[in-house]
Amino acid sequence: MTLMLKSGSIEILGKKVRVGERIIVHKLKSYPVIALEDSEIDLTMVNEAQIKRLEEDEAYFKWVKVAEEIAGTGGRVVVVLGEVDSGKSSFTTLVLNKALEAGLKPALVDADVGQADVAPPGYVSLAYPDEQVLWNRSLKPVRMLFVGDIKPQKRSDAIIASVKRLVETALSDGRSPVVVDTDGWIKDVGAVLYKFRLVAEVKPDFLVYMGGADTCFKLFEKMGVRYRLLGSPAVKKTRDRSERREYRSDRYREFFANAPLVKLSIDELLILDIPVLQGLKTSLGDERVVYSSLLAGKYFVVAKGDARRVYEDLSSTLGRDKVVVYPYGFERGLYVSLVDDSGLECPGLIERVDFSSNTLYVRTPCTGIKPRLIKGSSIRLTEDFHEEYIDKSAWESPGQDHTVTPAPPG
Ligand SMILES: Nc1ncnc2c1ncn2[C@@H]1O[C@H](COP(=O)(O)OP(=O)(O)OP(=O)(O)O)[C@@H](O)[C@H]1O
Ligand SMILES: [Mg+2]
Repeated sequence: MTLMLKSGSIEILGKKVRVGERIIVHKLKSYPVIALEDSEIDLTMVNEAQIKRLEEDEAYFKWVKVAEEIAGTGGRVVVVLGEVDSGKSSFTTLVLNKALEAGLKPALVDADVGQADVAPPGYVSLAYPDEQVLWNRSLKPVRMLFVGDIKPQKRSDAIIASVKRLVETALSDGRSPVVVDTDGWIKDVGAVLYKFRLVAEVKPDFLVYMGGADTCFKLFEKMGVRYRLLGSPAVKKTRDRSERREYRSDRYREFFANAPLVKLSIDELLILDIPVLQGLKTSLGDERVVYSSLLAGKYFVVAKGDARRVYEDLSSTLGRDKVVVYPYGFERGLYVSLVDDSGLECPGLIERVDFSSNTLYVRTPCTGIKPRLIKGSSIRLTEDFHEEYIDKSAWESPGQDHTVTPAPPG
């Protein structure tokens, strides 16, 4: 759906829309549109597009009050919590827009590694908006820190450490308010404990909980945190699992589709979380083996032909739990992060490893970066940027599922 303001004045998530400006409403989004005076808009509605009137008691009106309170009282750090689709990211946008309107220099820390708006999935990122936007996706990352997974459950401590670093970076760059947008994993005990640790580490001035009903996060008032409870929008577009997966694919595509290929020498790099590239090179005297390395007493092998067969043959002499065999070409599409000496990070997609020359070919949008470190993950992207898990294509001791299947949605 598109919207064009013909006359008057309207505001969307705190962004002032100019007469003649054309707003595209993406199929995954819905927006509260507030007319500040009698206004005329042109709408082009396609497919399932809908328009509804906001009720007087719509939660959004309280959002605006809280966003203005944050911008008006010099709140330095704000953490936004809530369930999936509760409006966390949209409220974050509203706070950033209100802060810009008040002449402040806000920052966003996007801590939602599963539905990242600023960086590609798997990163916690920092953005410095200098103009009002409708979707945090339009903001460019100034720093990205890879946590290596799209599920916060698996990497909660890494997320907390990254958020803390980026909040400190933003504050030392003179940015305020710094708004932390989080993932929607909040309902089970593990999730609540994770979010408690996150908030305790970040020590925000404001803690905003989206979702209507009071929660134990109110306890943070003990630390002097201003806790604000907000409702979720009465009418909104929600995202199902497959739309969430598609959104991630879109984000990978945006960063990698036109990314140039760079050539790196493995001998000059430190590699994390890709054991086959970390062990000491060794020889197994089997002509099907293209490369093998030994790490903590286990052989990590890349082999041509039937990987299962090679596994059976090698493990019969080396031991069943002493061998992992990856099929030749397993590394294609492996999702990694390239890190330079100063700690700057940039996403990378491995195209291939030439084991004879120890050369890594990787696609990255940041050609200027001189990587010293590669942070690996077990995510592999297909040609059309869908996620698979690399362990699923490797052969190792029994009890593993050896079929390549798409990653479960986060
Ligand atoms: N005030 C609002 N009025 C109408 N629609 C809204 C409003 N706030 C958010 N939405 C829509 O509701 C959906 C969920 O909002 P949003 O993405 O902000 O939530 P979230 O809590 O960040 O979700 P996630 O857990 O996926 O990160 C989106 O489609 C968004 O465009
Ligand atoms: Mg969100």
